[in-house]
Amino acid sequence: MKPAALDFPAWLQERAEHVEACLDELLPLPDEEPARLHEAMRYATLGGGKRVRAALVYAAGQACVSGGMPVAVSTGLDCAAAAIELIHAYSLVHDDLPCMDDDTLRRGRPTTHVRFDEATAMLAGDALQPLAFELLSEMPIAPALVVQASRILARAAGSRGMAGGQAIDLYSVGRSISREQLQTMHSLKTGALLVASVALGGVVAGASSVQRSALDSYAAAVGLAFQVVDDILDVTADSKQLGKTAGKDAADNKPTYVSLLGLDEARALAESLRGDAHKALAPLGESAAPLAALADFIVLRDR
Ligand code: IPE
Ligand code: IPE
Ligand code: MG
Ligand code: MG
Ligand code: MG
Repeated sequence: MKPAALDFPAWLQERAEHVEACLDELLPLPDEEPARLHEAMRYATLGGGKRVRAALVYAAGQACVSGGMPVAVSTGLDCAAAAIELIHAYSLVHDDLPCMDDDTLRRGRPTTHVRFDEATAMLAGDALQPLAFELLSEMPIAPALVVQASRILARAAGSRGMAGGQAIDLYSVGRSISREQLQTMHSLKTGALLVASVALGGVVAGASSVQRSALDSYAAAVGLAFQVVDDILDVTADSKQLGKTAGKDAADNKPTYVSLLGLDEARALAESLRGDAHKALAPLGESAAPLAALADFIVLRDR
């Protein structure tokens, strides 16, 4: 019997609500001291965001499990999905600080440093990051896989991943950089956490080496595509639609795929990366349907 076609919007919404509930439960409540810090951590993490990274964790896990999902894998995927969203939330809080992009709007609300204060925002980011690793350490799967997962996330968040890409981003303001340098910057600042999301799903689900290599190729394509589309939307969408200040890249003189290639070529690149992502999924068969739909969502989204 042919499996029922995936209702992707319903699937994404259900996964987003599920990871939101996990995050709500694990984040300290503001009735615990230091109350203001805990409030800021919750503010930065809960109540918004597309939850693409969490969805990638779940979709990659699902693609590698045949038959029913064991409870330990399902709980492990919850931990990994929440952990990557914690690192992502921290990266956004710091990205928005006056010393970085100096943004006042995020997810349709004032940024964390505007709602609280700069020092509290910095500390909220500082505290969200280790909480992610605490969570990974609680995954009820083989200890060797917990170690692998921790290494993947640590590397993706550090100077050879997101933080490194953010540094290149800041040092590139007002400069013209080559296409190769731009790709490196984007693959690090944004691609690294997306690639890690997919890899974490595979590790938690005990993926084979064939499955892992298909996941890696898929993730490299969607990781870069995500930031190409973020650059495009900064130009084509408005602030209300995005929930963050549109037109900020040009205003800040940031090198982006749009500034380097123009809108049409940037769109063509995103489209070609979408094709690469789909091709990479061939070895995974029908269980990769959510990953395929996520590649489409990442490239075709309007926010
Ligand atoms: C925004 O990420 C920052 C980038 C890495 C481009 P998202 O577009 O995933 O932000 P949320 O989580 O949906 O708010
Ligand atoms: C942010 O890139 C990447 C990270 C937060 C690591 P951007 O600066 O383009 O993200 P937005 O546009 O503010 O969401
Ligand atoms: Mg930035
Ligand atoms: Mg920014
Ligand atoms: Mg951007």
